[in-house]
Amino acid sequence: MSKIIKNICCIGAGYVGGPTMSVIADKCPNILVNVVDVDKKRIELWNSLDLDKLPIYEPGLKEIIKKRRGKNLHFSSKVKEKISEADMVFISVNTPTKKKGFGAGQASDLKWVEECARQVGKYCIGHTIVVEKSTLPVKTAEVIKKILQAVQPDNNNQNKKSFDVLSNPEFLSEGSAIKDLEFPDRVLIGGDNSQAIIALNNIYKNWVPQEKILHTNIWSSELAKLTANAFLAQRVSSINAIGALCESTGADVREVSRAIGSDNRIGSKFLDSGPGFGGSCFKKDILNLVYLSNYFGLPEVANFWEGVVKLNQWHQHRISNLIVKKLFGTITGKKIYVLGFSFKANTNDTRESAAINICKDLLEEGAILSIHDPKVEPNQICKDLGCSETQEIKKIRTLENNLLEGKWCFSKNIYDGFIESDAVLVLTEWEDYANINWLKAAEEMRKPSWVFDARSITDYKKIREANLNLWRIGDGTT
Ligand code: NAD
Ligand code: UGA
Repeated sequence: MSKIIKNICCIGAGYVGGPTMSVIADKCPNILVNVVDVDKKRIELWNSLDLDKLPIYEPGLKEIIKKRRGKNLHFSSKVKEKISEADMVFISVNTPTKKKGFGAGQASDLKWVEECARQVGKYCIGHTIVVEKSTLPVKTAEVIKKILQAVQPDNNNQNKKSFDVLSNPEFLSEGSAIKDLEFPDRVLIGGDNSQAIIALNNIYKNWVPQEKILHTNIWSSELAKLTANAFLAQRVSSINAIGALCESTGADVREVSRAIGSDNRIGSKFLDSGPGFGGSCFKKDILNLVYLSNYFGLPEVANFWEGVVKLNQWHQHRISNLIVKKLFGTITGKKIYVLGFSFKANTNDTRESAAINICKDLLEEGAILSIHDPKVEPNQICKDLGCSETQEIKKIRTLENNLLEGKWCFSKNIYDGFIESDAVLVLTEWEDYANINWLKAAEEMRKPSWVFDARSITDYKKIREANLNLWRIGDGTT
């Protein structure tokens, strides 16, 4: 008989742990869900009375938190206590790319995952099912098992601890996390113990149809997660590469996307050209695949996947270069208004956002940037760009521009940032940017003025009517 799970502990209250556990708590009111994190500030925010202060912005999240928090959903820093009470522990901690040592720049840094395994081994009581929720290199389950086996006392039968390890990678996308969790395309469970698999399966069965819950061996599950991200990122690099070719040939990448996306075998999703993929996972997961391929003696496979990341980097610098060229070869002292800083719409996450590289390039060239984003806080932009805000830019009509070269400021109000701008650069596809009144914006801008729309979200007819020059990614018709 498989165990009925009554008490879950999730280690890691981040972009995955927070929303995933909230949905489990919502769909399974009989299960007590504790989300723990060493980051006390983050936990404080998860417990904020003002639900607009939750550490993560996801449509639909605050409604669930309002319903379940304090009932069967709790956020705390009591790692030891909550592990000891749980019969299933999810490991949902960060797995960034290693910064130093062997495999630096490619392999995942598993120190946080190892630490979790040690904590579980130390504090758990009786039988515990340990679930890998973080994205991990193939064979990590072996490491976790070894750590768990090493810490359990082998001669004290009364306190004997036992474990099963499962892989249950998460496929949610930020910005649509709640919808993705409530209506997943599939749930993947990898493992070698059928009772443990069924125990986890039965949790998901509360809201996911059984045919969408796939069971595989543990290594297939770990590798499938890396592969899914690599395939998705590959599509983005592919369409961005074709976008560059469109600009040189008179083709339009939107038309090419539609034409190829109508082929059922290709499919229409993930074919939007943009400023290059960002987010905390695509780059790190592909680099991890590159590392694994080399490790297993497959350099051709490694080179194939590395090309996807290299194309993405090249593409971002291509956009910065192109802006300089269009603005008569120099942007020193020119004001550029950047619309959008998050790596995609509907999230406040800026990790690996294309905006970071592109803004750094523009600042390096001496541009003065005004930056707007509906959800990203100015202090986050400050951290990402490595320099603080210069408020004087807001009074730009009265100041000599050369004092402000290479500086940036945040524009809280969408229309303020247009004042005295030479160009507007759209980097995130926020709905607000689709509805800009370009006649009003154009009145404030310095002539000749440009709009660089890297997301093809703006109303290009209205931009032309307002006598603004327009560049869109992959538009070879202009
Ligand atoms: P995150 O950095 O937002 O959150 C991780 C949290 O774990 C942090 O708050 C950190 O303080 C905490 N933590 C680390 N070690 C801990 C420990 N020993 N005890 C308690 N807390 C600890 O990361 P994330 O974006 O939630 O990603 C987590 C994992 O999920 C990664 O492997 C990532 O690749 C994967 N993933 C992320 C997404 C996404 O959209 N962000 C989607 C699918 C999968
Ligand atoms: C991605 C995957 O889609 C999720 O399935 C996965 O769980 C997650 O990574 C993860 O492992 O972290 P996410 O990074 O949240 O989700 O966002 P995506 O919607 O995949 O977008 C990634 C990047 O590609 C964004 O910068 C986005 O703007 C860009 N993109 C996406 C395009 O430029 N064009 C597209 O057509 C699609």
